[in-house]
Formats: sequence, structure tokens, C-alpha cells
Amino acid sequence: MTEKLDITTELVTRRSHETIPAPAVTHLLSGGGQGIPLFKVHMPESIAPRMVATLLSGYIGQGPRVEEFEHALAPWFGNENVLTLNSGTSALQLALRLADVGRDDEVISTAMTCTASNVPIMAAGAKIVWADIDPLTGNIDPLDVERKITPRTKAVIAVHWGGYPCELAELNDIGKKYGIKIIEDAAHAFGASYHGQPIGSHSDFTCFSFQAIKHLTTVDGGALVCRNTESFKRGKLLRWYGIDREGERKDFRCEEDVREWGYKFHMNDVSATIGLEQLNYVGNVLRRHRENAAYFRERFKGLPRLTLLDYKNDRVSSYWLFTMLVRERLDFMHEMKAAGIVVSQVHARNDTHTMFREFRHVLPGVTRFVADQVSIPVGWWLTDAQREYIADTVIRLCQ
Ligand SMILES: Cc1ncc(COP(=O)(O)O)c(C=O)c1O
Repeated sequence: MTEKLDITTELVTRRSHETIPAPAVTHLLSGGGQGIPLFKVHMPESIAPRMVATLLSGYIGQGPRVEEFEHALAPWFGNENVLTLNSGTSALQLALRLADVGRDDEVISTAMTCTASNVPIMAAGAKIVWADIDPLTGNIDPLDVERKITPRTKAVIAVHWGGYPCELAELNDIGKKYGIKIIEDAAHAFGASYHGQPIGSHSDFTCFSFQAIKHLTTVDGGALVCRNTESFKRGKLLRWYGIDREGERKDFRCEEDVREWGYKFHMNDVSATIGLEQLNYVGNVLRRHRENAAYFRERFKGLPRLTLLDYKNDRVSSYWLFTMLVRERLDFMHEMKAAGIVVSQVHARNDTHTMFREFRHVLPGVTRFVADQVSIPVGWWLTDAQREYIADTVIRLCQ
């Protein structure tokens, strides 16, 4: 760790006139080995024996561990139609394909997310129509979604910002009314629930990410959960070129006609092995995120410079992020850094990227949210003393 930090520091110092290289940025977000990190990889040592067994089993591609992992995930999603994949981005791309989104179709999406939510729309050759967000949650506004529907609209992508579920009843009503598919980007929302039912059981498609710093990591990985069995079966083919891996074959799969082209998006047994072990811990991981968030929400009430996000009690956030709105946010971020606490806006609004320039549009809710939003560490790695120190620091700065 010390050696890595020295290299990073040296790179940043030596090339201070250049852009900081990406690995250094990631390192800084995780605390750079100093201070309290915003994110941390959860990787228990107990993974080791399981991992060795898989690595030496003679089968490391998509095999029995993938199937086992999918069965084990089903109760978490309240849905049996689980397809594990190599990333959350792949899950979104596959969802768009299964929603029959193609060239020049329109997909209504949110700008307030990781670029990964919107790049798959470009990959499908479709057009992005930005809907505004609720500036007090960061989530897509169903009223604006409905306003943006045209005869070309095929799907809506709804991101659960920080793990707080979107207005799923309203969105699914809109989906039914206009015959368009609702795709949840639940990359932040593993283990969250809405109206008492887990995220994964509400919409046509729900996409999860098991990337390095998520609640449940398989190093890289993701899952697509489908409402209907037909989409699930088609998705199973399309995640591996369109080839059926399950049928009886005389000669490997050489005799099979591939009817519809697919991708190489499947998960492998190595990632699934990690995922299976992580499932023994993820309940506690989520519990700790939520306890820390409840503690912050209680302590941050009534601070003049700080607004808590407006969370309803008909849903449970997974609190991947603890986002709050702070006036003069940049000064606040600077002070938090000086206090040794890593904070960040985490995702930049997407609509201002050059790659999305043709879709630009006025989004007052996004502009308001972006002006003040900032996330502080909330995860399982915080000790009680660190959590108290973070709260004391925030209160001191936001009086
Ligand atoms: C909101 C959101 N959607 C999608 C993704 C993409 O997931 P992955 O990194 O597994 O491709 C991420 C990122 O990690 C994300 O934060």
C-alpha cells in the first residue's frame, strides 16, 4: 500500500501539468491509503479456498458455479429469471436488445448517472431523450418521462441513485399505458426494496452491477433480471453469441444453427465463485450501510447549510451512497478533504458530454441537483469512531 501511494504521489507531482492518470484517480477516491475512503473493495479471505477449488477444477468458463450463483441470487431479487453477465453495462445493453430497441428508436433516460447507463443506448444506435430528475432524490421524474414520450419511444431507463428506488409504480403504469419497456439500472441498488418487494421484481428488466466497489463484487460482473420467461430464455441465448449451451449435442455445438446473433456477455465460474462467497456477507454489508445512513440522517437534521435527500418510507435504500445537498459544495469538499475524509460527486451529469451533444436539452432538476450534491463515506468499512468523526465534521462545517 505504501509503495503504491508513493508511486501515485510521484506521478501526480511529477506530471502536475498533465491530467492525473486514471489509476491515481481511483486510488484517491478510495482514500489513497490515507484518510477515510469513499469506497472500499469487500473481499473476504474466506474466498481463497473456494477460489482455488474452482481455478483447479478444470472448468473456469460459464459452468456449474454460474448456475449455482444465479439460483442463489434469485431470492435477493424476488425473481427466478436471473442471467449473470460480465458487467452491469452488458446487462443494460442486453436489456435494450431484449426490449427490441434499435436504430433511431428513442430511449428516455436520466443524465444523473454513470456514463455506463447511457452508452448502451448509443451502442444500440438509438436516440437518448433526457427526462429531468427530482432534485431532492436524484431519481428520474415520472411526470417528465410521460411528457417526453413519442411514437418512437421504446424504453425508459431508471437509475436508483445511490440505491434509493425510483417511483416504480408510476413508471410501470406509464410503461403499460404506452406499451414501452421499463429498464431499471439497479447498479447501486442491490438489496434495496420498493413497496415491500425486492428490486428485481418490479419491472420488465432490472440490471445489477457486481463491479469492484459495489455492495457485492465479483471483481467485474453483473446480472440482468427479466420479468417474463420469454425474454429470459432469449437473453440466455444472446448472452453467448445466440448459441444454446443447454441442448443435447452430438459434436460439441457444431451442428447447431444460430438464429439470432448475440454477444459474449456471460459470467464465468471464477466470478461466480467469488459471488457465491460474497453472498455470505452481503446481508451484513447492507445492514452496516443502512445503520450508518440512519445515524447520519438523525444527526444531520436541521443543519442550515445541508439538505437531506427526501426519502419516502415506502421503500428501503441500499445506501450505496450517502448523498446530500450542501450549499457552497466545493468549499465543503475542500474542507472535508482537509479533514481526511474522501467525498465526491461520484457521477457527472451525462448530458454535457460531447458524445451526447445531439440530445442536449434543458433539465432544471438536474442542474439544481448537480449544484449541491455530494456523497460522504457510508459503507461497511467505517468504524463507529470514524462514523462519529465524519458526522462531527459535517455538523461543524454545515452549522
Ligand atoms: C448507475 C450505474 N449503472 C451502470 C454501471 C455499470 O456497471 P459495470 O461497471 O458493472 O459495467 C455503473 C457502474 O459501475 C453504475 O454506477
